[in-house]
Amino acid sequence: MPLIDLLSLAVEKTSTSAKSRKGIGFGQIDALAIGVTPEKKMAKSALSEFLGKSGSSELEAEMGKWPEFAAKAGEILEITYSGENFPKVTRIYLVGTGDSSRDAIRKAGAAIGRKVKLSGKSVALGLPKEFTASKQISTFVSALLLSQYTWNLKSESDPKKKVAHLSIIAEREIPSLEADLEAARIVSEAVWNTRDLVHTPSNIKNPEYLAKFAKSAVAKAKNSALTVHVRAGKELAEFGGVRAVGNSSPKPGPRVIEISYKPRGTKIPHVVIVGKGITFDTGGISLKRPYDTMMAMKSDMAGAAAVMSTVLALAELGVKVRVTALMMCAENALSATSQRPSDVITHFGGKTVEVLNTDAEGRLVLADGLAYADLKLNPDYIVDIATLTGSATLGLGRQYAAMYTRNQKVAKKLYESGEISGDRVWHMPLIDDYKSSLHSDIADINHTADKDGFSAGSVTAALFLEEFVGKRTWVHLDIAGTGRSEVDAGEYVKGGTGFGVRLLTEWISSL
Ligand code: BES
Ligand code: ZN
Ligand code: ZN
Repeated sequence: MPLIDLLSLAVEKTSTSAKSRKGIGFGQIDALAIGVTPEKKMAKSALSEFLGKSGSSELEAEMGKWPEFAAKAGEILEITYSGENFPKVTRIYLVGTGDSSRDAIRKAGAAIGRKVKLSGKSVALGLPKEFTASKQISTFVSALLLSQYTWNLKSESDPKKKVAHLSIIAEREIPSLEADLEAARIVSEAVWNTRDLVHTPSNIKNPEYLAKFAKSAVAKAKNSALTVHVRAGKELAEFGGVRAVGNSSPKPGPRVIEISYKPRGTKIPHVVIVGKGITFDTGGISLKRPYDTMMAMKSDMAGAAAVMSTVLALAELGVKVRVTALMMCAENALSATSQRPSDVITHFGGKTVEVLNTDAEGRLVLADGLAYADLKLNPDYIVDIATLTGSATLGLGRQYAAMYTRNQKVAKKLYESGEISGDRVWHMPLIDDYKSSLHSDIADINHTADKDGFSAGSVTAALFLEEFVGKRTWVHLDIAGTGRSEVDAGEYVKGGTGFGVRLLTEWISSL
């Protein structure tokens, strides 16, 4: 096949199946997207060589528009095409990759993803010559896959069927490109699955649904290193926080879902990831106000969905780290069996807690999970992830999650994993002076941590959680801001973002 320098088919992946579609002919390609750096000369000469052969004069004319095209990150120039090399292609999208930083590459990938979204097209990607690292290409592809996400329950649509098929056109063999693209596919699918669960309405996804979902996902994975155990009813006797919250909705009641990934091998660290799985948060008797803030609360299980997808992705990637995911699932309903403000509950491990505001339910279910991890699982690291406080959003907005840990090394590593993966985190302080806010006259501690008027709700929530981790290396991620997007833009749609999956897979893979 006559190809220009820039374009020679090396690898291709589809986003809908793991199967490689190697061997696709250029005749099957419907759309062509080419990444261009601000140094456009190279792409220009490569393209004109290609055009020369295909004899398209239109394109020559369109190239006159190039001076207006600065190749800024995500900027798109559409050119019409009627050449012979790609008989089905009528449009070529040139997309600027800006300064080629990870962020710029993500913007470019997302811009193209949005162009071909729901088209069901077969898209070939040509990437700039300057992209010599396989990670640059896989970052571009991840952004492209994530930006194509859609979700609905309309009876006549199956959006996944319309996902564009992707081919990568690489100039030459790039070491580890195949493996990195496969990893990008696995992680992007895990993010998609997380988003699906977050979008699923709460009348469907009660704790029992999540348990069934986890069981069937583990069964489907067909990986002997993966096991799942679901606790319900009497088995939750010691999980006082889970019961206090979840018994507000006794049918079907709360579930603690434990997914264990134990790859063969010695001397591997054990990471326990604990997710808040509130399938709907009304606030309970301390009813959430103003009421319209309740609408978003089907996403209050985003942490639990993220830990499940993460452990499954790590297993599929074959990462040699032992991981246990704990999904702390309960509905926080308003009912005759709801807990009351002023109740005292006993958490896993025996600590007593005075409940002051039933809307601060997330930390109650997490406390049981953290204590269980510390006392029963002997982990090297415990990480919890939760849509925990409105304050986290006030402090950091929706681009960065609030990260709390006493371990500076881990903080640095996670920060870097965030920058690499796109799920970004900011290290926040665990302020010892604020600990007095946890004082209770009648129990070991109170749970809203609002004594002494420190405010800093995300910080005091973290201080509360720290009471349950013993001496473990622990990280808390407050994703109240990042778990949900208010806009349909870039890699996100309005709604669940799947935040945490990319971050945790990146970080755990690096241990
Ligand atoms: N699920 C909410 C936190 C939240 C708010 C997540 C907005 C996503 C968007 C949590 O259970 C909650 O209600 N937190 C309270 C705690 C307060 C009562 C101490 C909050 O942040 O206001
Ligand atoms: Zn709440
Ligand atoms: Zn909540």
